[in-house]
Amino acid sequence: MCGIFGANNGRPVASKLIDSLRRLEYRGYDSAGIAVVGAQGLDLRRASGCVDRLAAVVRDDRPEGTVGIAHTRWATHGAPTDVNAHPHAFDGVAVVHNGIVENHAELKWWLSDLGHEFVTETDSEVLPHIIAKMRRDGMDHRQAVAATLEYAKGSLALAAVFEDAPDRIVVARRGSPLAVAISEDGAYVSSDPAAFDAVGGRFTHLEDGEVAELTRGDVWFDGADGDARRNRWEPVVLPQDGGDPRAGHSSFMAKEMAEQPDAWSRTVASARAFAGVEELAAADRIAIVACGSSYYAGLMARAWFEREAGLACDIEVASEFRHRGGVLSERQVVLCLSQSGETADTLAVIEEMRAAGRRTFALVNTARSAMTRAADRCWLTDAGREIGVAATKTFTAQVAALVVLALRVAHARGRIDADRLEKALDGLASLSDMIRQTLALEGRMASAASAFADRRSAFYLGRGPAFAAALEGALKLKEIGYVQAEAYAAGELKHGPIALIEPGVPVVVVAPSDHLFEKTLSSAQEVKARGARLLLLTDAGGAARAGRLADDTVVLPGADAWAVTVSAVIALQFLARHIATARGLDVDRPRNLAKSVTVE
Ligand code: F6R
Repeated sequence: MCGIFGANNGRPVASKLIDSLRRLEYRGYDSAGIAVVGAQGLDLRRASGCVDRLAAVVRDDRPEGTVGIAHTRWATHGAPTDVNAHPHAFDGVAVVHNGIVENHAELKWWLSDLGHEFVTETDSEVLPHIIAKMRRDGMDHRQAVAATLEYAKGSLALAAVFEDAPDRIVVARRGSPLAVAISEDGAYVSSDPAAFDAVGGRFTHLEDGEVAELTRGDVWFDGADGDARRNRWEPVVLPQDGGDPRAGHSSFMAKEMAEQPDAWSRTVASARAFAGVEELAAADRIAIVACGSSYYAGLMARAWFEREAGLACDIEVASEFRHRGGVLSERQVVLCLSQSGETADTLAVIEEMRAAGRRTFALVNTARSAMTRAADRCWLTDAGREIGVAATKTFTAQVAALVVLALRVAHARGRIDADRLEKALDGLASLSDMIRQTLALEGRMASAASAFADRRSAFYLGRGPAFAAALEGALKLKEIGYVQAEAYAAGELKHGPIALIEPGVPVVVVAPSDHLFEKTLSSAQEVKARGARLLLLTDAGGAARAGRLADDTVVLPGADAWAVTVSAVIALQFLARHIATARGLDVDRPRNLAKSVTVE
């Protein structure tokens, strides 16, 4: 969370900084700011809100200077105001920071005793103060930043510019990601190499604890292996697609939803070729560890590991799993699941497992991410880059990859023969057509959404994988529609939640016509009897059996209950999107969220 960019390229950098920040806005959009250093000294511009607001500020009053740093914020400490926006500056030092300075209160007391005054509510403001103090104590710029890394506890990626050295940027990281690039015209730093698309050249990730200095023509690393690491630069891959980034869709979310059939096919094909699946097959138990939607993807695929592969499968929330001190069996495999590959808690699980001497496994969508580097074995879903904050195509791709993994494990464990495996995988691949048919239901889901638009709460019910679909659907509605949407296992309804049902409250029931259908329908009847407004998502057989029970019944495609459940996920994405749009909300940038959750 929070995006950092910096440029030292011999040309006025303000516009480049702002353009690059736009590529990092997925990491947070509470406020944005730049600091430029040049002959005139240190010049800061900051604005609460998204990068467009900062761009408007800078348009009328552009700072001059050829070296600069920039930041787009996801607020942790202090409200998203102008004054709390980064960069923070003190005594000729300006700093942008991603992460959390956990001991900021102690550091503020210490510095206050020395006469320093703080003007923001942020944790990050201590950083320029410490650097300035270290400079006063006689350290050079790099030493001062390295010392600051020692004083400040927690995760941090930072970039600093100096009034007394207008030719350099000093950068450092511990925990939070940071990469540096060199192109023909200069040196750059970014939280995400994707922002180097506009500069080209080659890049490398900073190692944990590393400090580097960006001059106009080069990057200098501190540490004994500074020269050796020069061999680890990778070329920046420039994007092929120019033109309209939303490809004619109303939002990135709409575009990414429409890409699901292809993302599904590509991911099934890649997962069929994943190397090392036998390592999963040799396990006596598997724990899928993830956060948010990724957790629900694990939950949705769990039955495939248990029923097909005969492998006990736990699904764990990363932030709980890490701190629980649970017991793992000798041959238990922990598989971390993440679209971004950067989620702090999930990444910490990989790091902690490695430190404990276990082999680590990850399934990630972002090829150049912290998890792909950290895990011993990393498999990639192939959904393509997702920009909309709400996971859509990455969720369905995760489900696809997990099911392929489960089937291949089932085969490796001798539970299905090669013929059955191939047929099952072909069947799975062909679901891309069913996903296309579901996408054609957009108009139908838009009309279903119209009954929800003025509601502040909603309930989602399902059983088995359909419960996971209900959880995912409710999360989508919470995050982009700001509706208090709660999902329950239908069997749990009578154990408390039914007390919340009152006339008119929307209840979405996901019920493919499988062996659980009648039970789920009973729950639907119970809420209907209490006046709920019922939206039933089912297949043709289910619709016939439900008759006129629901206020609205959407018939989903899908040859079996599993396929119908996948289809329901997509229908529920439409439901959330149309409710959010009807409320005039920005579906790509919901409030308080960020695409990549790099703080715990
Ligand atoms: C919801 C959503 C989040 C993420 C969660 C984990 O639409 O996107 O709940 O699923 O923050 O992120 P990753 O998968 O990047 O680890």
